[in-house]
Amino acid sequence: MCGIVGIVGVRPVAERLVDALKRLEYRGYDSAGVATVHDGRLDRRRAEGKLFNLEARLAGEPLAGNSGIAHTRWATHGVPNEANAHPHFSGGVAVVHNGIIENFAEIRNELIASGAVFASQTDTEVVAQLISANLKAGMSPRAAVRAMLKRVTGAYALAILFESDPDTIFAARSGPPLAIGYGDTEMYLGSDAIALAPFTSQVAYLVDGDWAVITRTGAEIMDFDGNPVQRIRQQSTASAYVVIDKGNHRHFMEKEIYEQPEAISHTLGHYIDFAESRIRPVAGIDFTNLASVAISACGTAYLAGLTSKYWFERYARLPVEIDVASEFRYREVPLVANSAALFISQSGETADTLASLRYCREAGLKIGAVVNVRESTIARESDAIFPILAGPEIGVASTKAFTSQLTVLASLAIAAGRQRGTITPEREKALVGHLAEMPRVMSAVLNRIQPKMEMLARDLSKFKDVLYLGRGTSFPIAMEGALKLKEISYIHAEGYAAGELKHGPIALIDENMPVIVIAPHDRFFEKTVSNMQEVAARGGRIILITDEAGAAATDLPTMATIVLPDVDEAIQPMIFALPIQLLAYHTAVFMGTDVDQPRNLAKSVTVE
Ligand code: F6R
Repeated sequence: MCGIVGIVGVRPVAERLVDALKRLEYRGYDSAGVATVHDGRLDRRRAEGKLFNLEARLAGEPLAGNSGIAHTRWATHGVPNEANAHPHFSGGVAVVHNGIIENFAEIRNELIASGAVFASQTDTEVVAQLISANLKAGMSPRAAVRAMLKRVTGAYALAILFESDPDTIFAARSGPPLAIGYGDTEMYLGSDAIALAPFTSQVAYLVDGDWAVITRTGAEIMDFDGNPVQRIRQQSTASAYVVIDKGNHRHFMEKEIYEQPEAISHTLGHYIDFAESRIRPVAGIDFTNLASVAISACGTAYLAGLTSKYWFERYARLPVEIDVASEFRYREVPLVANSAALFISQSGETADTLASLRYCREAGLKIGAVVNVRESTIARESDAIFPILAGPEIGVASTKAFTSQLTVLASLAIAAGRQRGTITPEREKALVGHLAEMPRVMSAVLNRIQPKMEMLARDLSKFKDVLYLGRGTSFPIAMEGALKLKEISYIHAEGYAAGELKHGPIALIDENMPVIVIAPHDRFFEKTVSNMQEVAARGGRIILITDEAGAAATDLPTMATIVLPDVDEAIQPMIFALPIQLLAYHTAVFMGTDVDQPRNLAKSVTVE
């Protein structure tokens, strides 16, 4: 993960670099640093913790200089302290890095054997030490960088600054994303176009195996063998004004939960032809004669994919092969020709999801990307982009992106059903009608349940373990509930298929572990009620999240019952996602955790 940024400029850069880092803080926030060259001398300021610590350091000890590089870190090698914060220095060379240098131990040992002294526990420092050793051996900066690139393996986006050459930044990409920004009198480098948006909207994306020499007037881009390559300079849609404003909310996560009705309206507007009450034709993938669909993603995006498996199989009678991307990429899945693959990713940069995509591309499958960031690597490497149009999601815990992903996937499943003749036009019309109701129902639900969720969160915060259960599409929603709760409140939580209860988890049931049951009054309801009986019989406390019909159909005693309006099965996952998001949010607020930037996490996971 980590965010990197660089400027070769004509006016002071330190403050501007830190502003750009603020836009990259979603990539990591355990420490940060900035380095500049001024009067022929490299200097840096680094600080452990959030960016405001670095800002405070710079306020006390400003950094002059018109060229610089900066970094916000998500620790991989070495604890998050100042010594391990980037930029790393060695003999007049400064380096910032996103990724993992896999052969760092071997290189480090070699360098130590020849007298090098390391100042950090990071893998990154070998890059700085290796380049400075190359300089000492008589190489030019350019040759020293190139020789380093030939030696290191792993995943990296790098920015390198030399004390002896303040007018140049070297950049390299093997894995994590890197964009070059073109200004009138300055040039920029960043992990994404959003970081560069206040400086320029003209960007070129490096591809894997590119490195670049960036000066004030332009960039020379080459492959690792030194052959020049052309990367298209394009107009970025990232806006300098997209910020970073919580409105009247305490946290971005709260704001994003309440933005869902509006976000879903945008998504629906893109996918539904309201005049015809049908899903608009899907460009890029023809589902008509497909043998199967492979779906892969991570975390919350994976759970959106898992929900969609039920829809693709039900509406389009299309078999779905789905797995978390970290497994999918290495499983050697025997992919059937005449299949398509869908990759779901809010950021569009998740390393494992991207690797799974490339695996499927090699096998010749048509690739669809369900992404929020349309300029992301996953989007750029796909045949068809299905934007979720959720708008920027800043809170690390995904909320509106999840329900927007579900909305896109439901639309695709219905379109696939139409193409394959497995749903009638009348059924499509009815389903589209249900989708169109979502913004209104979501607003009503959010307004109605808020006070109750806050009270319930107060009770939930007293427990150390929580179990979530659900059947059908409520099973992935149960898992999403558990994921949301654990990542922001740090309460241990697990999501299970309700039918699996008696195959193990039931052993855990006692009065100390609340069981949250997601049970709309659907065709699984009676069976889920039986599972609730089993919990109640063992003294377990039940929190039931159901609808009006479900509440009327059971009188089991519960710790709390949350009642949502009755909605069609097709949109239950999007509606039932709301209470589990609010419950996690209020529990975390009540426990005083860092809701928007929970410990150890990052919004964009560009390492495996
Ligand atoms: C959890 C969460 C993560 C992401 C996962 C994939 O709230 O946000 O589990 O869903 O890291 O990220 P993307 O969607 O960017 O590929």
